[in-house]
Parts: sequence; structure tokens; C-alpha cells
Amino acid sequence: MFRQARWEEPTVFELGHPGRVGCVIPEAEEDVKKSVPSPEELVPQNMLRESPPKLPELSEVEVVRHFTRLSQMNYGIDLGIYPLGSCTMKYNPRICEALVRSEKLRELHPLQDERTVQGLLKILYELQRMLAEITGTDEISLQPAAGAHGELAGCLIIRKYHEVNGELDKRTEIIVPDSAHGTNPASARMAGFNVVVVKTREDGCVDLEALQEIVSGRTAGLMLTNPNTLGIFEKDIIEISKIIHDAGGLLYYDGANLNGTMGFCRPGDMGFDIVHINIHKTFSTPHGGGGPGAGPIGVKAELREFLPVPVVSYDGKRYFLDYDRKHTIGKVQAFHGCISVLVKAYIYLLALGGEGLKEACEVAVLNSNYLMRKLEKLPGLSLPYAPQKPRKHEFVVSAEELAKKKGVRTLHLAKALLDEGFYAPTIYFPLIVPEALMVEPTETEPLEEIDRYAKAFEKIVTMVDRSPQKILEAPHNTSVRRVDEVRASHPRTMCLSWRMLRAKP
Ligand SMILES: Cc1ncc(COP(=O)(O)O)c(C=O)c1O
Repeated sequence: MFRQARWEEPTVFELGHPGRVGCVIPEAEEDVKKSVPSPEELVPQNMLRESPPKLPELSEVEVVRHFTRLSQMNYGIDLGIYPLGSCTMKYNPRICEALVRSEKLRELHPLQDERTVQGLLKILYELQRMLAEITGTDEISLQPAAGAHGELAGCLIIRKYHEVNGELDKRTEIIVPDSAHGTNPASARMAGFNVVVVKTREDGCVDLEALQEIVSGRTAGLMLTNPNTLGIFEKDIIEISKIIHDAGGLLYYDGANLNGTMGFCRPGDMGFDIVHINIHKTFSTPHGGGGPGAGPIGVKAELREFLPVPVVSYDGKRYFLDYDRKHTIGKVQAFHGCISVLVKAYIYLLALGGEGLKEACEVAVLNSNYLMRKLEKLPGLSLPYAPQKPRKHEFVVSAEELAKKKGVRTLHLAKALLDEGFYAPTIYFPLIVPEALMVEPTETEPLEEIDRYAKAFEKIVTMVDRSPQKILEAPHNTSVRRVDEVRASHPRTMCLSWRMLRAKP
């Protein structure tokens, strides 16, 4: 039986006592003291603090125990499977983490003279080339910080492109499938477009007839992920691309699902003009956990001049930050992007190579289909949209029958999984599947762990008849029981810092 550690752990501010310290630094010799300027000499008068900052004061052992206890109350990829669909929470090799912490990299400053960071610029340049090769695009900008940020940058490129062609006034619409991730319509809207939704057919692909009907001279572009959020490959992508291009629009590829195709086919070859890559899913940085991340975008040659700057370029002698793009959408990120995340991707790509990437994709797809065939047969679960078709790296099952017949909803199943010692899949997405459970086991899970996950699902579904109340009130064994999700995300009740907590009545 799984039991998560439960400690009554106070915040770090509530621990410790005034004057307690983690390490004792000996007093400096008098002559050393004299040679080092005091804070008063270094910091301008108007910026000096009046009183010392209110920092927690703890001994070393208190700090170590505090964080060890917290880690035991937590769940992460180091503990077990984390099959959060659309997030590609694969296990990321420790070697990438170890190398990226090298002092050589850590001590660099973004404002350093380019001549002193040639090594890093070379890495970034080569990473751009690798990502261009993987996506079938011609040039990459490493600037955007996440997938959604890449989408916004991509939509701004679409905007600028039509502006330069004198068509922005009439090209006001971006088409998005009803299966799309919420960030797609949000990004299109933020870039000033109206969103037009195209529906999904029975076979889980974009409805071509419906697409033909909504495409017009107002179409600025289409955003699509392939495989789509059902895990199904859009087999008509070449035709979709032709429809959009014939209408004068551009195609944007949401690269969130690259793990399901990399090494086998490339968005650039499918007709996409702009592509983002979720580095923090596919290439060795976890997606969950709140960042930092990286969402580079790639474009076809005719859109090179629109890329966000700087792009790292090479003139045959030196690497440099290239700001010279005639129609650039400008700067979208501080300095040069999330360097540590980008360097981890570089190490990962070098380590795997082309064949390794292909194998990773293959195993991700195999694991997904293996688990899917086990889950779809469980009583009360079903596989909507073309149940005979294999899926790519993820799949979506529906618990609609369980919800209707037994009143046990997807949320309850997800909470009950926590009691079994597993992370829940993504739930209630995509929106076109009622009571959706979106599962992505990834290539890094051993067969035995996938089997254990399927068994846990089976146990829960069979428990629905025997002890439904237990499922409805789950989780019982976790460090934190059922949270009030609405209250937790309401701005009035949200409490994000020690200061906010103390200010609470
Ligand atoms: C299909 C899809 N598109 C876009 C995004 C946005 O990516 P990010 O979370 O990096 O902003 C996600 C995130 O999970 C996604 O699943």
C-alpha cells in the first residue's frame, strides 16, 4: 500500500531562531578588512536598506531536514511514471544536468563581449542548425521562453508578413481546430487576430470539408499540432497545407507533440512555414514544474527576415549575435534566451544523434499504444475517435460511461491514482472528449512501470462498484488531501508568499 510521507512541516520562515547560522565564517584579518570596501561604500546611499532583510535563520541540519521532508511529501519523475499527456514528462538524463552546471557556463554574463563567449555562441549556433534539421525549417531563433511564447512570436510573424505584403487589413483570421491546446487561440488573439474554429471529423482528424468552407481571403493562417491532441496523425496535412497556402495564409506548427514524430517526418516537409519546439518537453528539460523552459521557433527561408532577434550567426571566422533582420518582430526575451535549458538540449541531441532520436520516438509510440490497449478495455472507459487506429506518443480515453452510470468522474479517477502512488494523467483536455484522460507514458518508462500503472487503473475502476465512496473522496494517502481547486486558484484566496500568508486575517 502506498503512503506518501506526511509531516507537519512549517515554512522555512517559521523554523529556526534569531542568530542561528548554517556555517561560521572566521573574521577576516584587519588588513583584508581594510582592503575590501564596505557595503556603504559600494551601494548608493538611496539604495541602502534601513534594516537588515528578514531572512530565516537556521542551522545547516535544520535546512537539510526541512527540504528532505518536503521532498518526501512530493511526487516527481524520480519516483515514478509521470504520464501527463501533452507534457512529455520523460526522465531527463542526469548527465545533462551535471554538465550544464559547469562553472564555465554558470559564470558567464549575458553582457560579456562576444569575443569572450565564442564557445557558447558556437553551441547555440549548432543547436539552431540541429533544430532546423529536425523540424525541416531553414532558420531558428532561440529567443522564445516557452511553447506559448513561441506561438505568440509565430503569430506576430504571420501578422508582420501580411503587413509587409499590404494585406493585414483584410487578413484578420486564424483558423484553429477544436482539438487545439488553449494557448493556440489565446496566442492568435493576443497577436490581434480573430479565431475561427474548424471541427474534428469522426476519424479524429481536421474536417477538410469544414476547412474548405471557412477558408477565405480573410485567412491569415492556421495553427495545428501534428500528431494532434488526440495522439492521431493528421494524414491529410499536405492537403490542409495546400488549402491554406492557396488562400494566401501561412501554416503554424505547434511543436508540443514533436516527441511523437521526431526522426520520422518533419513539419517543414508537411508544409508548415513556422514551427515552435517545446525544448522543455522533448529535449531534456521537464515541462511540469513551472520552468524555466525554451520554445525556439523555426521558419522557412522566405520568413527569415521576420525572426525575433538576435539569431546566432557565423561569418566563417566568428560567431555573433545577429540583429540584422529587415522585418524582425523585434526582441521577445531578455538577453539570449534560457541558456541552461538550451545547452541541455544540445547535450541531449549530441548524445542521442539522429538514430537515437528516432528510437526515442519509436519507443514513445510503442509504450503509448501498449498502455492504450490495456486501458481502453477497462469497464467504463472507452477510446473515442477511430478506436481501431493506433495513436502516436499519447492517447485520450474517456470515462464518460463511468461518470454517467456510476457518478465517478475523471477527476475522481485522477485523485484515486494518487492513492496508488502514481501521478495522474492530464484530465479534461482536449475539450472535444467528454471526461477525458490524456495519457503519455513516454519512451523512458520501463515496461514493468507501465504495467503497474495499468494495474492501478484496473484496481480503481473495479473499486467503483465495491467502494465508490472511497474513490469519490480520494486521495486518502497523500501528504495533502483533496484541495479545493476553485479556492486555490481564486485571486482573493490565493496565497503565494510568506508575506501574503502573514497578512491574512
Ligand atoms: C499541444 C500544446 N500546445 C502548446 C502548449 C504550450 O506550451 P508551453 O506550456 O511550453 O507554453 C502545450 C503545453 O502543454 C501543449 O500541450
